[in-house]
Amino acid sequence: MDVRFDPSRGLTGELTPPADKSISHRAALLGAMAAEPVRIVNYLHSADTDATLAAVEALGALVEERGDVITVRGTGLREAREPDGPIDVGNAGTLLRLLPGWLAAQEGRSFTLDGDSSIRRRPVDRIADPLRLMGAHIDARDGRFAPLTVHGDRLRAISYDLPLASAQVKSCVLLAALAADGATTVCEPSRSRDHTERMLLRGGVSIERHGNCVTVVNADELVLDRVPVPADPSSAAFAIAACLLVPGSRLLVRGLGANWTRMGFLRIAKRMRGIVVGELEGEHSLLSPEEPVCDLDVAYGPLEGTYVEPEEVPLAIDELPLVALLGCFAEGETVVRGAGELRVKESDRIATVVEGLRGLGADIEALQDGFAVTGGGGLRGGVIDAAGDHRIAMMGAVAGLASRDGVTVRGMEAASVSYPSFLEDIRSLSR
Ligand code: S3P
Repeated sequence: MDVRFDPSRGLTGELTPPADKSISHRAALLGAMAAEPVRIVNYLHSADTDATLAAVEALGALVEERGDVITVRGTGLREAREPDGPIDVGNAGTLLRLLPGWLAAQEGRSFTLDGDSSIRRRPVDRIADPLRLMGAHIDARDGRFAPLTVHGDRLRAISYDLPLASAQVKSCVLLAALAADGATTVCEPSRSRDHTERMLLRGGVSIERHGNCVTVVNADELVLDRVPVPADPSSAAFAIAACLLVPGSRLLVRGLGANWTRMGFLRIAKRMRGIVVGELEGEHSLLSPEEPVCDLDVAYGPLEGTYVEPEEVPLAIDELPLVALLGCFAEGETVVRGAGELRVKESDRIATVVEGLRGLGADIEALQDGFAVTGGGGLRGGVIDAAGDHRIAMMGAVAGLASRDGVTVRGMEAASVSYPSFLEDIRSLSR
C-alpha cells in the first residue's frame, strides 16, 4: 500500500500511544507459564503480539478477552502441550527468541518455530548456544536460522556472558532458568531493557541484578495475577520525532512507559536540544517490579547533531532510524556507532535507513556498525520503500511530515506489526 504524507504545518494535540509490544509479549508468555490465571490490562493488539497469543493457545493456554482485559490461563512452567504443527511467529523476533526459553524445559516434547521471510534471516544461534549449555537440544536451518526445533529436556543452571547486549537473548535464558536446577546468572556487556526481570520479580521469582548481571533462582511456580501494560515508548517515538522536527508543534503524550532502559531515544533527543519534558525514571541499581508511567510534553526546537555512544545503543535500539532522521534536520553531524545489530532487525536497518533517507535528499553514509549524517539541510522528499519493516514505514511517514515536498511510503501496511492505528493517530495530530 502506497501512502502519501504531505508536509505538515505543525503537530498539536494529545496522544495515548498503543500498548507496549515488549511488555505485551512477555505478559502473554509469562501468563502461559503461570500457575494461576493472569489478567493483562491494555494488551497490544498488533500482528506481532497476536502471534504470541496464538502461540500460547497452541501450547495449551486459554486466552479470553473482555473489554481491555485479556485473561491467560496458563499450563504452568513444565506443562506446555506439544502442538500439532509448527508455531508461526509471523514477523515477531521477540516471540522467536523468548518462547524457546520456556519450551527448552518441556522434557520429552519437541516444538518447531517458523515465520515469514524476514524472520528466516534473523539469527537464532544466539539463543541456541546458551540453551544447549543448559541441556536442551536445538536444531536450526544452517545451524542458525528458523525453522528452529526445540527438544525440551531437564535443564541445568548456568552462568552465561552474552556476547552482545540483547534483551531477547537475556530473557530467553531467564525463562529457561526458571525450570533449571539452581541459580542462573546472565551478564551483558551493557544494559538492555529489563521488562522480563521486572515481571519475574512481580511473579514472586527470586531475581537480583548486580551491575550488568542478573541472577535468577529456579522456581516451582509463577503467580502474576494482574499485569498492566503502559504505552510503548518505541511507538510513541514516531509522533515525538515528528513534533521535534515540524516547527509549531506541541504534543502531550499520555500514559507512556518511562522505564529507564527504554528512554535512550528521549535522552538522545534532549541532548540534540529537542524540547521534551516529563518524569522519566532514573537509573536504579535495584530491580523494581513496577513499570513506571509518565506524561510527556514535547515541542519543536532547532536541533543539534550528536554522537551516540555504543552503550546507549541497546537502550535506543528500535529508535535509531529516528535518530538518523533527526540528524538530517540537526545542525552539524550525527553519528551512531556500535549498532551492527541493526543489520539483523526486521530489515538490514543500516541499509534501509541510509538508502531510504538518501532517496529523500539526506546527506548520510552507512558505516559498518551504524551511520553518519551531515544535517541542517532537512529533506526534500520523494518515495521510500518500507522493505517490509514497520519502523522504516513509520520513519518514512514522519520524514514526509517534516519534508519540503512530501513523501510517499511504499508498503505502509508494515506498520500493523507494532502500531495498527498509526495512520489515524498521526493524521489526527498533523494539519
Ligand atoms: C526486544 C529487544 C530488542 C528490540 C526488539 C524488542 C525485546 O531486540 O530490538 O524490538 O522485546 O526484548 P534485541 O534483544 O535483539 O536487541
